[in-house]
Amino acid sequence: MSRVSARKRGRFITFEGLDGCGKSTQLHRLTEVLRAAGIEVVETREPGGTAIGERIRAIVLDSATSGLAARAELALFFASRAQQVHEIILPALNAGKWVLSDRFTDSSEAYQGGGRGLGSEAVLTMHRVACGNLQPDMTVLMDSDVTASVTRARRRNLAKVATAQGGEADENRFEQENQAFFTRVHDAYLAIAKREPQRVLMLDARRQPDVVHREIVEAVRQRFLGAARSA
Ligand code: TYD
Repeated sequence: MSRVSARKRGRFITFEGLDGCGKSTQLHRLTEVLRAAGIEVVETREPGGTAIGERIRAIVLDSATSGLAARAELALFFASRAQQVHEIILPALNAGKWVLSDRFTDSSEAYQGGGRGLGSEAVLTMHRVACGNLQPDMTVLMDSDVTASVTRARRRNLAKVATAQGGEADENRFEQENQAFFTRVHDAYLAIAKREPQRVLMLDARRQPDVVHREIVEAVRQRFLGAARSA
């Protein structure tokens, strides 16, 4: 990569946490702040974010999908991610845009590595192959209470199913997992935060959304925008 394109490269920020922790709301709010500051932002989500990724999403999240082996599940998440890196993330970063992604490889390390018990090494190896080892510049980890998050996510998805127009696939496959699964996911997230404190900003997501939002904005300003723009 030339020095010029390296200097102009955009920032890559990912949001992570248990289902129902409020990360999507916080991602959108940060996007608004960045756009108001004149920064071009691309928002995306995983699994999904591309036409191919959304089709993979329908398979991996639909509770009608049965018998999916843990390694096949991992491979599907990485297929979606590899497409996303190729089609959206790298082109945007190279064009100087910032990319905010709702989940990335930390989700696979937490859910498939921790939750499914495949371990971190398998996930990180896959990441090197599928994503060229692309690392976020910053990851916002929204730490929340396991029971409360899962209850909230289940309620939200049940409401979505109730309002869906006939025959639509649901996104409940993970919400049907038990407390022990989500506890392993949570533990894996904590281990990632401990391993990479410079990249991962862990926040207590149980507080008021406005308070959490202010902390995220402040951290982004300090890391990337410098004191001059923090007024
Ligand atoms: P998401 O759409 O972010 O749901 P939520 O808003 O409830 O957090 O994610 C869908 C589910 O997919 C979520 O339960 C986490 C799971 N997931 C994995 O297991 N591995 C992965 O690599 C990714 C990206 C998501």
